[in-house]
Amino acid sequence: MILREPFGSLFFCSYIHSMNYKNVLKGYYDTDNKVKAIDLITNRPYFIEDRPDMKQRVERAINFGQYVGVYQRGTRNGFEFINEESYGILDALKKEQSKEVKPAKMINKPDDFIISDLKWKYLTRCINKGKNLMFVGPAGTGKTQIVFKAAERLDKQIFYFNLGSTQDVRSALIGNTYFKDGTYFEESAFVTAIKTPNSVVLLDEISRANPEAWNILMPVLDVNIRKLRLDEKENSPVIDVASGVSFISTANIGFEYTAARMLDRALVDRFSVIEMDILNKEQEMKLLNIKYPNLDPKVNEALCDISFRIRMECERENSKLSSPIPTRMLLEAAEMSIDGFDIEETAELIIYPQYSDEGGTDSERIYIRQLVQKYVQKGDKEDLFTDNDFRALDNYDI
Ligand SMILES: Nc1ncnc2c1ncn2[C@@H]1O[C@H](COP(=O)(O)OP(=O)(O)OP(=O)(O)O)[C@@H](O)[C@H]1O
Ligand SMILES: [Mg+2]
Repeated sequence: MILREPFGSLFFCSYIHSMNYKNVLKGYYDTDNKVKAIDLITNRPYFIEDRPDMKQRVERAINFGQYVGVYQRGTRNGFEFINEESYGILDALKKEQSKEVKPAKMINKPDDFIISDLKWKYLTRCINKGKNLMFVGPAGTGKTQIVFKAAERLDKQIFYFNLGSTQDVRSALIGNTYFKDGTYFEESAFVTAIKTPNSVVLLDEISRANPEAWNILMPVLDVNIRKLRLDEKENSPVIDVASGVSFISTANIGFEYTAARMLDRALVDRFSVIEMDILNKEQEMKLLNIKYPNLDPKVNEALCDISFRIRMECERENSKLSSPIPTRMLLEAAEMSIDGFDIEETAELIIYPQYSDEGGTDSERIYIRQLVQKYVQKGDKEDLFTDNDFRALDNYDI
């Protein structure tokens, strides 16, 4: 509409003219109150630090609500001040034309996995861009499974390597040399994986890998190198990591470990690190319900409440407990309930053994037993758990 304005109108002139600007500078004051500028044509910073004349022009423009247009005048630059409102027309047009800035697309999350939208979006983006990412978190919180789910959703080939259980690191990551009618080198599955464009390479339990594995992986994971030397093979050829290969690792770093001590700093620096979500009670109940729709709601409530109480205790200073119930164990407990085990039996079989009985009556195991008993004794009573029960537990003294 504006373009159809009579020739000579202020808007129209400004629009025509501005097409010839090399830069259109929009000034602002930074947090140190220094004058800075953004070039609206490229939408990039325009560095004026060493140009007192430009600083003055830009500052004047800020004060008058204007921009500075820079154009070619012979062999030198010419400048003119443009009103913000009239430049707005060009700006709007440019934005309309360039569809460059697309918001990151959200890939649908799996129905049977609970993870925040933000972390899911980041994981799928890292895989799509062939970036390195490390999931850290306590045992059984879904670190490994979520990577499989994401690869499936993105239709990417996934190669799984459990570094925690790998003894012979060189043959697992590089390959083996055989001597049979001459020398024969068989490349490892890891070599196949890194040669497969756009694949996801899951380096599971990297925190438990032996340092030799870390050394082999260093250059592979370095974004500026991405190479693996097959030094077991004759002439030690070097393999390039194919384009789009994303390395996702998991590290079991939870309440019972501290990150810095567990992992080599240089190795961790090769990944973006995100913490796996620890589910709250509502999320755990939702998950059990999704996975086991037939689970008795009262059992669901009791299991998730036990898990919640344990987690709260773990998070306390001078906690009596060292680790929460892993989501994996909670799911197993729910399945056992469906299979006819009651809470006491389930606890006896899979929960108590996870907690140390060292320290006799002051042990972790006794604490957990006391806690579970609250749920067992209440049996079918309507009011299953009252806060008083748990206050008593906090001060337990046997
Ligand atoms: N947030 C969650 N949503 C859905 N399922 C989950 C979640 N967390 C854990 N699980 C389930 O728990 C089980 C254990 O998950 P997984 O093996 O990925 O854990 P992990 O963090 O890799 O554990 P570890 O550190 O012991 O290797 C899987 O069956 C997984 O589907
Ligand atoms: Mg795992």
